[in-house]
Amino acid sequence: MRDKNYWNELPEIQKKLKEKIKKDYWRLDWHLMPETGWLNDPNGLVHFDDVYHIYHQYTPEAPSGEGKRHWGHKTSKDLVNFKEEEIFLSPETSFDLDGVFSGSAIEKDDKLHFFYTGNVEQEGDHDYNFSGREQNTIHAISTDGYTIDEQHVIIPYTDYPAGYSDHIRDPKVFQKGDHYYLVLGARSRENKGAILLYKSTDFEKWEYHSVLIKGRFDEGYMWECPDLFELEDNDILLFSPQGLLPTNYYYHNPYSVVYQLGKIDWEIGTLEKIGKFKQLDHGFDFYAPQTFIDKKGRRILFGWMGIGDTEPEYSNPTIARGWQHALTMPRELKLVEEKLVQIPLKEYQSLRQNHKKMLLNSQDVKKLYGEIYELSIIFDELPDNFHMRLREDTELIFKANEFILKHGESGYGRRARKIELEQLYNIRIFSDTSSLEVFINDGEDVFTTRLYPKKESNQIKIDGDLNGKVEFWELKK
Ligand code: FRU
Repeated sequence: MRDKNYWNELPEIQKKLKEKIKKDYWRLDWHLMPETGWLNDPNGLVHFDDVYHIYHQYTPEAPSGEGKRHWGHKTSKDLVNFKEEEIFLSPETSFDLDGVFSGSAIEKDDKLHFFYTGNVEQEGDHDYNFSGREQNTIHAISTDGYTIDEQHVIIPYTDYPAGYSDHIRDPKVFQKGDHYYLVLGARSRENKGAILLYKSTDFEKWEYHSVLIKGRFDEGYMWECPDLFELEDNDILLFSPQGLLPTNYYYHNPYSVVYQLGKIDWEIGTLEKIGKFKQLDHGFDFYAPQTFIDKKGRRILFGWMGIGDTEPEYSNPTIARGWQHALTMPRELKLVEEKLVQIPLKEYQSLRQNHKKMLLNSQDVKKLYGEIYELSIIFDELPDNFHMRLREDTELIFKANEFILKHGESGYGRRARKIELEQLYNIRIFSDTSSLEVFINDGEDVFTTRLYPKKESNQIKIDGDLNGKVEFWELKK
């Protein structure tokens, strides 16, 4: 159904974008990025036949994100080295004409089953919130993960329960006992977020089960990209609310990512909350993460290292260079004392080279510099004051029970984000040409952020009365 011209013109458009991209220093060395154009949410993450498949929201022709979403596709044997594959899904049917939106994958009987949202925008005078938008839930089947054999609507937009706006999307499917379940993110007619639960035995007939959980007025108007999984006998709901009211420390980005711990009553289909929901990442660039279990039994998360609608506060200058956004490095999730902890995937140790090891108070620390590296600090004495400058003008600060990330000009509008932190035990920093991922206290708190320093901005300066060890590795491309 899609305009034939689109496919005819795309190679030429991509060729031009690639010429700009080739010269761009800010192109990341070891993160997943769009080959050209725009990337957002990770989709359909799955480990199938010993291959990791990472799909993602993709508009190859438009770095600014205008245009329709496809599913881009990358594969890997080790989650470190990736191959760019052909576009997997495109808006080509009457039920997904204006965008193949986010969704998930699950293996069953040697096949891959994909569930995604087909976005259709009707012509006419509409606000596309309460009228004019059709968001169908679609099932696609593939025997190999590269091509689609079959594709059809399983929940048409007309069949969602009453009381909701046109925004119901992002199916995540999983198995529990003899049943399959599907969660969808939703916006009610009163502009409150909710998660809907559907149930099936065969992937074909889906019965609406319940509202798993719904938000209060201050908890956002729309909840996107739900993910539901178990860790240490707890049910964990991870989702991306839009419109959360900022508190002193949290929810200062345009949109946020939170998780809610609880216990699900599968008979009635509700989540009994344990505690409040918590922000998963504290940097400027983290949204719409998705998790999956790999063949080693690990719960692995990729996030979109970006957020929509950050302008005018902050922006990404790579648009002018033919591309925008990336995925975070993969992280293994663990639950430690009711907190979701993110641990950089151990496979990334294979990128390490030119190891340096020193004491924090030695002269050698003053000789450290780098652009693309992993740096770990373990304190022997817990510091009251820690201050680090890195890259061009970025600072990491711990004092008076706060941990702060600050950017200067290289943040392109990103200024400061902070959290309350009682004590600082250790820090692990992963720096790529234009990104930073900072893991604090064994991944209990994480700051993910983009930054756009001038080439060869490589300072590393650590201050404070500090006792501990530093390890440093350059990271291979
Ligand atoms: C989250 C999101 C999803 C939607 C997709 C469209 O970033 O808005 O809710 O499916 O992006 O690209």
